[in-house]
Amino acid sequence: MGGTLTAGLLGAAAGQPVRKGSRERSPSAGDIVPFHGVHQSGITQLPRVPQQQGVFVAYDVTAETRDQLTDLFRILTARARFLTSGGPARPASGSSGSGLLGTTLVPDGLTVTVAVGSSLFDDRFGLAGRKPVELVPMTAFAHDDLNPAECHGDLLLQLCANHSDALVNVLIDLHTRTTGLMRQRWRIDGFRSPQRPSGTPRDLLGFHDDVANHFLTDVKGRIDNFVWVHSPSPEPAWTTGGTYQVVRIVRFDLEKWNRVPVEQQQRIIGRHKVTGVPLNGGHDENSPVVYDPAGEVMPFSCHVRLANPQTTDSRFAAPNPYVPDKVPPVHIWRRSYQYMRAPDVDGRMDAGHAFCCFQRELRTYIEMQRRLENEMLVPYITPTGGGYFFALPGVKDDHDSYARTLLT
Ligand code: HEM
Repeated sequence: MGGTLTAGLLGAAAGQPVRKGSRERSPSAGDIVPFHGVHQSGITQLPRVPQQQGVFVAYDVTAETRDQLTDLFRILTARARFLTSGGPARPASGSSGSGLLGTTLVPDGLTVTVAVGSSLFDDRFGLAGRKPVELVPMTAFAHDDLNPAECHGDLLLQLCANHSDALVNVLIDLHTRTTGLMRQRWRIDGFRSPQRPSGTPRDLLGFHDDVANHFLTDVKGRIDNFVWVHSPSPEPAWTTGGTYQVVRIVRFDLEKWNRVPVEQQQRIIGRHKVTGVPLNGGHDENSPVVYDPAGEVMPFSCHVRLANPQTTDSRFAAPNPYVPDKVPPVHIWRRSYQYMRAPDVDGRMDAGHAFCCFQRELRTYIEMQRRLENEMLVPYITPTGGGYFFALPGVKDDHDSYARTLLT
């Protein structure tokens, strides 16, 4: 049976009731994701699945002195602490808020993740000697068509919540309170689909996406090894508990993609479209991905085979002409959102992936992306923006604030 499975974003049977899966959890306005912790809570956020609404906003810092920069981080901390916990709008906070959420602020599962770009470590604030060692400006890969207006930034906020009005409220709140200290540079609004009909949510290509994240959570200690900076490390001490964050705005040619027969789409990704099961077989999407040495079942240049060639995991290793025998670590923590925004000047859809991943070493991502320059997905996607950032360590308690260890 050939032909496309139209879009696929809604699953095999659109409108079918959602089956309860083990990872499913109904989002509610009362959800609170604890704000304080060693790591920022909007990154791995276990055991929760990511919220359905997400926005990435990059800023140029307009604060002029180190004291003003410190004020900026203190304001961001105080507001994030309050907005993520909810409650009545407090007169002591100096404002009744936007009113968008009513008289009582609902936490709505909000997380606020704050990251810094390499430009923050220029000569403005005396931070040059404290830069994370791998933090550099993003440079173009082979098939990128980068729009400079949507690249880089001194700061990046990733705001995620169950509903979009909660995010708009946060943006209004933060911009009201930080006027003069930072200015928006670019923004991308995203969403994640609910389970359609079960399992990991689908991306705009219609495939279950972020499935392999569970390889990091199923094995004790893997998250610590691959995501968080910890000692011993060549990184400055203040970075402990933080992680490198990559955001890439990747536009899809959905008109072209949806004309591709589903069997070919599956060979491009390496998984079945309806079920998410790897092409090598298995019971469900969480079954092991195993590569055949001849590349007949899982093509050498399919997405998953290049993203994770498994040459460092001897259990499943199989040679691949597109990758060296040994590659550096292959595990990243993905936390991407889908976007669809206004059409371009030619009336074509501008939709795709606000790709986001976290990893202890930035080179893990860079080398992975280089391998993906050879993937069969290339004709259907165009990276247009984004940047490299370092997501700060968590805010530990009421006395702590974002970037405290960086600025003191
Ligand atoms: C931009 C468009 C992209 C799309 C539509 C996409 C889609 C997918 C899909 C459907 C899967 C299989 C299911 C899963 O394991 O989540 C997958 C796996 C994966 N992707 Fe992507 N991806 C994209 C970009 C990237 C980029 C830029 C990277 C990193 C440089 C990446 C890294 C990975 C990794 C590491 C896996 C898991 C491989 C494994 O261990 O089996 N992806 N992606």
